[in-house]
Amino acid sequence: MPFETATAVSCANIALIKYWGNRDEKLRLPVNGSISMNLDGLVARTQVTFSQGFDHDSLILNTQAVSGEPLKRVTRFLNLVRDLAGFKQYANIISENNFPTDAGIASSAAAFAALSLAATRAIGLDLSEKQLSLLARRGSGSACRSIPGGFVEWKAGLDESDSYAFSFAPPDYWDLVDCIAVVEANPKLIGSTEGHRLANTSPLQVARIQDTTRRLDLCRHAILSRDFDALATIIELDSNLMHSVMMTSTPPLFYWAPATVELMKAVPLLRKEGLPVCYTVDAGPNVHVLCTSDAADLVIKRLNNFPKVNQVLYAKPGAPTRLV
Ligand code: PMV
Repeated sequence: MPFETATAVSCANIALIKYWGNRDEKLRLPVNGSISMNLDGLVARTQVTFSQGFDHDSLILNTQAVSGEPLKRVTRFLNLVRDLAGFKQYANIISENNFPTDAGIASSAAAFAALSLAATRAIGLDLSEKQLSLLARRGSGSACRSIPGGFVEWKAGLDESDSYAFSFAPPDYWDLVDCIAVVEANPKLIGSTEGHRLANTSPLQVARIQDTTRRLDLCRHAILSRDFDALATIIELDSNLMHSVMMTSTPPLFYWAPATVELMKAVPLLRKEGLPVCYTVDAGPNVHVLCTSDAADLVIKRLNNFPKVNQVLYAKPGAPTRLV
């Protein structure tokens, strides 16, 4: 095969109903289904080149050469792509995120979704959206949700070939925006791969999983009927449930900073004042504050009034992963 290059762009996504815990770690089969919104403009842009001239895989992330476990993880992922294609060439990857990496803004989701499309195209494969989602899941579970666009559901599925994500409403279905209050932009200490391993050590995880179908139904219905109050109630509960599991694992995981709690207390008060606004927090200290677009200017202004908020990122519902 000649020297082949492809470049893909993928949005990060914010989980509204969270994935936490795997029933099969190697295959990244989740213990529960999840729902997310792609984040327009918060993207990973990834170029992949396969060549007979390379004697190992290499990765440059945000202009820095990457080695050690992060590179091994990418090589393991590329091995899946090489197996699918029946080729044995190594790859050079150049990837850039336009948002803080590893700070609970789903950088691995955007990265592995973009890598799935760029690598398969560069190696000569043309996969369907479902096949790409199944593949992206193997890199980082939540990456499977960045493949389709808009509002997305990842079903836990019965087996390896049945656990993928699909869009249930396009990006323009509801003019929600995610205003991300960045209180810390440093990489988190415990990555989600390690966090998922601890989920079962929490006595609360069983209850969280048992109740997931109900939360998924309520969240999907709230989005499809554009019912902001219903969305606010269910996503704040879901976020608090996941963090309760994290904090009661052995060892416990505390992803919140003092400013995270401050914002989690302030947002429902803003809602009481009449602003359509609610929060959700991933595996990091930054707070995703969702609102309808008509309220966004005011919400961003109010968030910027918090001394510990360094920056507010802004994202509308985003498009599917695409080639550029
Ligand atoms: O895909 P991972 O392994 O980075 O896990 C994502 C975990 C959360 O972001 C906390 C929740 C989610 O569903 O995205």
